[in-house]
Amino acid sequence: MARVGTSWPIRQNITDLAVYKPGKPIEEVQRELGLQEVIKLASNENPLGPSPQVLRALATALERVHYYPDGSGYRLKNALAAHYGITPDHILLGNGSNEIVQLLSLAFLEPGDEAVMPVPSFPRYEPLARLMNAVPREILLRDFCLDLDGMARAVNRRTKLVYICNPNNPTGTIVTRSQVDAFMQTLPPDVVVVFDEAYYEYVTRDDFPDGLEYVKQGYKAVVLRTFSKIYGLAGLRIGYALADPALIAYLERVREPFNVNSLAQEAALAALGDTSHVARVRRINEEGKRYLYQQFTRLGVPFIPTEANFIFFDAGRNEKEVFRQMLSKGVIIRGGFGYDTWLRVTIGTPAQNKQFIHALEQVLQNS
Ligand SMILES: Cc1ncc(COP(=O)(O)O)c(C=O)c1O
Repeated sequence: MARVGTSWPIRQNITDLAVYKPGKPIEEVQRELGLQEVIKLASNENPLGPSPQVLRALATALERVHYYPDGSGYRLKNALAAHYGITPDHILLGNGSNEIVQLLSLAFLEPGDEAVMPVPSFPRYEPLARLMNAVPREILLRDFCLDLDGMARAVNRRTKLVYICNPNNPTGTIVTRSQVDAFMQTLPPDVVVVFDEAYYEYVTRDDFPDGLEYVKQGYKAVVLRTFSKIYGLAGLRIGYALADPALIAYLERVREPFNVNSLAQEAALAALGDTSHVARVRRINEEGKRYLYQQFTRLGVPFIPTEANFIFFDAGRNEKEVFRQMLSKGVIIRGGFGYDTWLRVTIGTPAQNKQFIHALEQVLQNS
């Protein structure tokens, strides 16, 4: 065998990247801790699962998996276009909205360019900027909200992308229409604003700015939305971008030809059509939110009011320890956001929320 040595000619910025750590899977916790009953409230998934109409569409679609998917996503783009009152050329489909964050990096960031982003927030903006040898400018939240003034100050001649995660993950806070209007006025014309609206469908406040309005007004804006959350299709991986057709046409050149699989496309079409399921998920989320607010208040646990399907709360103890103890009780939540005592819990079914509160109460009493 040829001697190949042990080092690989890897690009330097790749050796510096960390591997993404997802929320712990249920099976892993069952295996590691020998637990039967485990609930996962760690990744902001939809606790009700997909609509029954999705399951039926998938059964039919399964019989056709020997064909490549429709690379143009024709039917789904048309359905989304009708849903939003835009033309299909404003839409790009992605293998999750996560893929579109990567496509934006590939399309816009030259080495040395800068991308301005909030932190803590969705943790993919930063590594995907580094992937391109670009510079992430991470702006800390202020009072758990995006610091738009700080972000505006970080914009300079090298800035290509600005990420506005709205509502923000992990805090669930929003920036309002008037705040974003003012922010947009400060930007140089060539900066592209990415509105990451993964939790858009959960929002109830009427001062929430719909990113699509900025696209329609002619700003250099891209809106990211997903079927992973309210539509309950996280495992199938499908999200989309809404933007000016000229930008969408560039992103179409960068993506893989069949980036969104056929099951995901059929499931998304069915999910979009089942508005009563979406309404049900929203109602369960609102009820869960109210219950968890009451229980946090009863336990004296500070929390941040949320516009999404998760709540950021202060356990008042080391977050890693709280995470570990909750895990030992079969409840997977999420910490590691850079706040010593704060963690995030996904709003679950009524039974899951109760189980979470029961476990949290025990953890707080025992420490
Ligand atoms: C703010 C935010 N953006 C994007 C995503 C990625 O979603 P997708 O499953 O569509 O890749 C998530 C997932 O948790 C998220 O929280």
